[in-house]
Amino acid sequence: MSTPSTDKPVPGGKNVLVEFEDGIAWVSLNRPEKRNAMSAELAYEMLAVLEALEIDDRAGVLVLTGTGDAFSAGMDLKDYFRATDGLPVLERLKVYRTNALWQWRLLAPYPKPTIAMVNGWCFGGAFTPLISCDLAIAAEEATFGLSEINWGIIPAGIVTKAVEQVMNQRDCLYYIMTGETFDGKRAKEMGLVNDAVPKDQLRERTRKLARTLLEKNPVVLRAAKQAYKHVRHMNWEQSADYLASKMDQVSVQDRSDGRSEGMKQFLDDKTFKPGLGAYKKS
Ligand code: COA
Repeated sequence: MSTPSTDKPVPGGKNVLVEFEDGIAWVSLNRPEKRNAMSAELAYEMLAVLEALEIDDRAGVLVLTGTGDAFSAGMDLKDYFRATDGLPVLERLKVYRTNALWQWRLLAPYPKPTIAMVNGWCFGGAFTPLISCDLAIAAEEATFGLSEINWGIIPAGIVTKAVEQVMNQRDCLYYIMTGETFDGKRAKEMGLVNDAVPKDQLRERTRKLARTLLEKNPVVLRAAKQAYKHVRHMNWEQSADYLASKMDQVSVQDRSDGRSEGMKQFLDDKTFKPGLGAYKKS
């Protein structure tokens, strides 16, 4: 996929950096001097970035990472918590809502595929966007920690709920209760990330995964990931009905009619095998 020519401005630019590369939007939390701790200001900028990329053709897949040697050291204890503690309650709630909006309400069902690329430190509140992303690749050398217990709070925001979605009970409670750190290899063992590779291979591994996703039909990819995330909370009867409706939605939204095209290429033209890769998009 080549980058469409556009004179649209690049979103972000201060607390969040965006770079486009052949359909991949590399989105970096950009406060390296604070290990990319997430401030109130970053929350507003990140929300604006996600909203902009949602309708930006230069972004087919979004990769979330961090500048420097951190993915993110979690919520900024000074510029998120202390800075909002003294605010009138409605102002504080607005900041909290904005943070929740970008970290999971918008990011988890994001209409484009998302990959977290964990390049280094990943603590506390950073688990929420990590888990909201559809897929995750970590550096083996990355350091993760649910460190909240070490400084007198519980993994709130929505961190406890997020980790419960991807890690088993023993692992969740172990790391929530001890605050011990773990590396990328352990994160992979526990299912917190899909893969862990040496840090010098991290970007290439992530790029390869992004390119695989770029080959797929974007309408179907969107429906497939959203369906998975919703079906987890439904019973079998509800799931069957919802999935049938979702299939109908795909057939309306997919103007390229990928289903017929895929069948034609397999059954008639014999130009592709669905078990071995994506059909050729028209
Ligand atoms: N909130 C606010 N500031 C933070 C921060 C956070 N979560 N994490 C790091 N910083 C700041 C430090 O205060 C320091 O600021 P300063 O230069 O003004 O003193 C700067 O970032 C660099 O941090 P430092 O601790 O010197 O870096 P390091 O590379 O030695 O250690 C960490 C990195 C991530 C291990 C360490 O900063 C840390 O433990 N951070 C807190 C992680 C955490 O528990 N997060 C949970 C929050 S929900």
